[in-house]
Amino acid sequence: MISQKQYCNEEVSRKIDELLSQMTVDEKIGQLHQLGPSPVGGFEISLDELKKMLDAGAITQKEYEQSARGFKVDEREDEVRAGTIGSFLGLYGAEKCNRMQKVAVEESRLGIPLLLGFDVIHGLRTVFPIPLAESCSWDMEMAEKTAAVAAKESAAVGLNWTFAPMVDIARDARWGRIAEGAGEDTYLGSRFAEARVKGFQGESLADPENIAACAKHFVAYGAAIGGRDYNTVDMSLQTLYETYLPPFKAATDAGVATFMGAFNDLNGVPCSTNPFLYKTILRKDWGFNGMVVSDSMALQNCLDHATVADRADVARQALQAGMDMDMHSTCYHDFLKELLENGQISMEDIDTAVTNVLRIKFALGLFENPYTDEFLADKVILCDEHRALARESAKKSIVLLKNNGVLPLKKDVKIAVVGALADNAEEMLGTWEGIGRGEDCISVTAGLQNAGVQFKFAPCCSLDGAFDEAELSATIKDADIVIACVGESKEDSGEASARCDITLPGRQDEMLAAIRAQGKKLVTVLFNGRPLAIPEAVENSDAVVEAWHLGVEAGNAVCDVLFGDYNPSARLTTTFPNHSGECPTYYNHLPTGKPAAEMKYTSKYIDAPLVPLFPFGYGLSYTEYAYSGLSANVTENGIDVTVTVKNVGAVDGEETVQVYVHDVLASRSRPVRELKAFGKVFLKAGEEKQITLSVARKDLEFYDMQLNRIFEAGDFEIFVGHDGTAPLSGEVAVE
Ligand code: BGC
Repeated sequence: MISQKQYCNEEVSRKIDELLSQMTVDEKIGQLHQLGPSPVGGFEISLDELKKMLDAGAITQKEYEQSARGFKVDEREDEVRAGTIGSFLGLYGAEKCNRMQKVAVEESRLGIPLLLGFDVIHGLRTVFPIPLAESCSWDMEMAEKTAAVAAKESAAVGLNWTFAPMVDIARDARWGRIAEGAGEDTYLGSRFAEARVKGFQGESLADPENIAACAKHFVAYGAAIGGRDYNTVDMSLQTLYETYLPPFKAATDAGVATFMGAFNDLNGVPCSTNPFLYKTILRKDWGFNGMVVSDSMALQNCLDHATVADRADVARQALQAGMDMDMHSTCYHDFLKELLENGQISMEDIDTAVTNVLRIKFALGLFENPYTDEFLADKVILCDEHRALARESAKKSIVLLKNNGVLPLKKDVKIAVVGALADNAEEMLGTWEGIGRGEDCISVTAGLQNAGVQFKFAPCCSLDGAFDEAELSATIKDADIVIACVGESKEDSGEASARCDITLPGRQDEMLAAIRAQGKKLVTVLFNGRPLAIPEAVENSDAVVEAWHLGVEAGNAVCDVLFGDYNPSARLTTTFPNHSGECPTYYNHLPTGKPAAEMKYTSKYIDAPLVPLFPFGYGLSYTEYAYSGLSANVTENGIDVTVTVKNVGAVDGEETVQVYVHDVLASRSRPVRELKAFGKVFLKAGEEKQITLSVARKDLEFYDMQLNRIFEAGDFEIFVGHDGTAPLSGEVAVE
């Protein structure tokens, strides 16, 4: 693991000072300026106009792409040569990157290499499950491995920086970007943050297979009001420190090289210009030595936040807040020099930011070797080994939500497959698909063919409202089992894809009800990027398989689970509500003064069940596990929880043992329960194992009203089991 100290060793600091002493103001500002390659000429309407038309729905994505194909791309060679651009977003391809690095290193005055960043969120060309799906594996080793493969493929196409992991805690399923993170829990989210940073960065950034990671979006972006993307966040500092900051702290401790500021304002101050975030929390309190980049156009967006007078003012505020690099808005490029000349910012302000950028370039070893082996991509991209890992991670991400015994299926039964997502390979990619392609993906129908299964298929129901009942009847007439592949399109989650209604789009529910009405056994396979409110679909199904957007090996992985070649082991990392109106909903809430109960004057909706559709931590398998012999012992370091877990079913499986803690009495109200430890244990049928999980003493602390982190001695309830509703197993006093 990389430590923050590594970014500012003495030798590097000396080299940076030497460079700074030779740099002109323009060259310094260039290091703080990130742009994409610029599309120019070759088309009739301007790119901006074209984008507006796309956003307004006047042209389709395909039409947009067709027009865009006519573009010539200006890779800004002249700017690179002049040293006035320090980083690119979205420039990739080994040959192209080498060409640009060569201009930077050999043709610019000071030879400073480029940072080449891209959104490699869940794989580059080998697309893995979306991060929310992968988090359901609760498997840190897997997360580290998939990030490492993503890094390897990225490095092979000349990239040296990914804008990942997203470590935003997300408690509101309406927010489309819930797909990009590890769910609602702070403890689990922190473990994933560490694992993914380690995977991308490895032991050394200078290793040509590793790339710099970026913890984003700092901070509390997931708490946007009503789940509306980019919206306001108004939150107590206690909640910020206890719930939203820890995954970022974990990423820092794991040596993350960069941070990205969030679009939202926090308590009225845009995150892009908030010195408390970067100067106080990140640098002073956490000892972060890397670099901070803004979100795309986020500086410009401060004009709409209406906290800056003009673009020059935002450049000043952001730089002085500790924002090192400006993504896309050009505010730094356009105004920092003028601000310096007017005395509104100092050379020290600029030098600090430039130093932070250069540190990452040194850490990546770019000064020694900025080039990529141009023959590498063909060898590593989407190679067999990476595909095998994609299948492994996909099957470990599938959550079995319901099974009345119909699963696993036998291969010789008569199967009908319906639903718009059954044979749509491209939809399996999910949001932020890197450079993934639909043609690389295995759909469910292709997966069934690969598994040698006979079936009859017709989509019958689109995602947007067309439902052909006659086609459905004809397709399922002779079937013993109907597999319905329903859910959301990949465009329905991710950035700018908030939904206020998180039920199944279109008439898919109706289709499921019609299958049920025809007396067929129904296996519903869900593809989606967020929790869905689908009580009817669940009711109408004999089995429900949550497949999320699983990436290139989706169809094969779904078949592994459907036919019992893999015993599902994943557990939800977000609560599934019964109704959209229950959002935000999460398991680790405070008790309130009138905890939810059947009685009238309690905190609940009168028109919804008291419990969610599926709780945090939930997931079935083809076997069952029995817990016994629980004990909790207080140690110097916290609490050791020991339990014996037995596989009491007929098939082997992997159980995720979860430990939750509740602080019985405290000076501030504490969550009803919080995950504080977990472990995965593989058990053969009939096998039992004793497992000890440690709850760290520091994880029993919290923040008081003055924001001091404190530990209050007293009783703690411990809950152990296989989901967030695990029964109480004991109470211990910790002094
Ligand atoms: C997103 C970031 C992303 C950036 C660059 C923004 O719109 O919020 O997460 O890294 O674009 O693509």
